[in-house]
Amino acid sequence: MTSTTPAGAGVGPSPTPALEVRGLSLRIGGAQILEDISFVVPTGQVVGVIGPNGAGKTTLFNLVSGVLAPTGGQVLLDGADVTGRTITQRANAGLGRTFQTSSLFPGLSVEENVRLASQVHEGGAISLVRFPRPGDPASRRARDLLGSVGLGDRLRHRAGDLPHGDKRKLEIAMLLATDPSVVLLDEPMAGVASGDVPGLTDVIRSLHRDHGCTVLMVEHHMEVLLGLVERVAVLHFGHLLAIDTPEAVMADPTVQSAYLGEPA
Ligand SMILES: Nc1ncnc2c1ncn2[C@@H]1O[C@H](COP(=O)(O)OP(=O)(O)O)[C@@H](O)[C@H]1O
Ligand SMILES: [Mg+2]
Repeated sequence: MTSTTPAGAGVGPSPTPALEVRGLSLRIGGAQILEDISFVVPTGQVVGVIGPNGAGKTTLFNLVSGVLAPTGGQVLLDGADVTGRTITQRANAGLGRTFQTSSLFPGLSVEENVRLASQVHEGGAISLVRFPRPGDPASRRARDLLGSVGLGDRLRHRAGDLPHGDKRKLEIAMLLATDPSVVLLDEPMAGVASGDVPGLTDVIRSLHRDHGCTVLMVEHHMEVLLGLVERVAVLHFGHLLAIDTPEAVMADPTVQSAYLGEPA
């Protein structure tokens, strides 16, 4: 006898999602930047966010991470309402993000960048004079994380000299140093040479596969998203048009006319 019901499924309510936004809205002056956005990101899923420039994708991330306060609605992390909490409180609750533009220290080495990210997370003073010693746990961890993103042979390189693809991998190692459970990636492929896209895609996949992170990522390249995400949310002029599998989203006529018909 076969069953399509997985073991343990079908009993009780569905588990609490890692991230949920409920009726999230932002009005600035007379402009409605985001309106009534609601969706869930179940624990362990990778969800993409697409939409034309100016649709509100980065703003959505700013609301989720606490950079901006919404004018309506809530953000829930693991079921807890964090809408009134600061960026730091949300980071301590397990939320990590990268920015659309690079946020690393270009003059420091690759390893120093990751050590600093973990020092900041642990609440210690940032110390540039605290040079790594071989047995230093922070350095060991930095080297492990850099190995896991494929930068194990770049430890002493100046971060600013890395190619874009490697800078993004470094930012992901810095993010992992903060031990996040939910990560927000804003256009991780921006500026990355096409030859570096598959390697960076693998690193993003490993966030979910090897580090157990739940991932919400803005990415314009549908071919990248297709290989990574279970669902895609489509934003358009501050509205959520659809959230579904990549195939269903691409086949949705509303989405096609609103978004896919436009040049990327
Ligand atoms: N602080 C702000 N003040 C006024 N308008 C803003 C602000 N931040 C973003 N916007 C506007 O909100 C809209 C969405 O921007 P953004 O979230 O950056 O879009 P996306 O990331 O999808 O390209 C744009 O029209 C932008 O000009
Ligand atoms: Mg943006």
